[in-house]
Amino acid sequence: MLTLAVLISGTGSNLRALLEAASDPDFPARIVVVGADRQADGFAHAEAFGIPTIMVPYSEFASREEWGAELHAQLTVWRPDLVVLSGLMRLLPAAFVDAWAPRLINTHPAYLPEFPGAHGVRDALAAGATQTGASVIVVDGGVDTGPILAQERVDVLPGDTEHTLHERIKPVERRLLIDVVRRIATGDLDLSVYDTH
Ligand code: GRF
Repeated sequence: MLTLAVLISGTGSNLRALLEAASDPDFPARIVVVGADRQADGFAHAEAFGIPTIMVPYSEFASREEWGAELHAQLTVWRPDLVVLSGLMRLLPAAFVDAWAPRLINTHPAYLPEFPGAHGVRDALAAGATQTGASVIVVDGGVDTGPILAQERVDVLPGDTEHTLHERIKPVERRLLIDVVRRIATGDLDLSVYDTH
């Protein structure tokens, strides 16, 4: 049974989907802890499913590195096989990525390498794209530059706002994420090929 730690910052709708998938006894992975860099609304989903939460408030640390070191120390206690970033709106320090990658994956609401970074949906709209997408990647030292594990195109519709487009992308993200987690858990997807240590 693959054990997961999921890191969020916001509403956690992708987390919710993973919690629901993992509550199926046939799903080969389970979430052991949910973490956030702030008091994230998504903690409510973890609590609804009885999953422990850890909150490491970025604002209380003198540097990204010190915040990352504390997050690493707290995550290590739970010994997750895989760390899933699903709406964590914070760049992780290199030491954290080095400690966890390639057992560290991220979902992104764009068709990488198109529109990386914190505003992928907004950037696709601003660029006048007629298509964007969703991607699941292995986290590396860059910003959304890691190896792509899964991705799928999502149409941009006339009149789309950042919100309507993002809400259409998220269900695709959730489906891709659940499938990637299932494939890692069953050994169908071997992350060790992405190990750069
Ligand atoms: C997702 O689209 C994720 O890829 C991006 O932020 C969004 C989080 O949504 N980083 P939610 O918090 O899961 O609803």
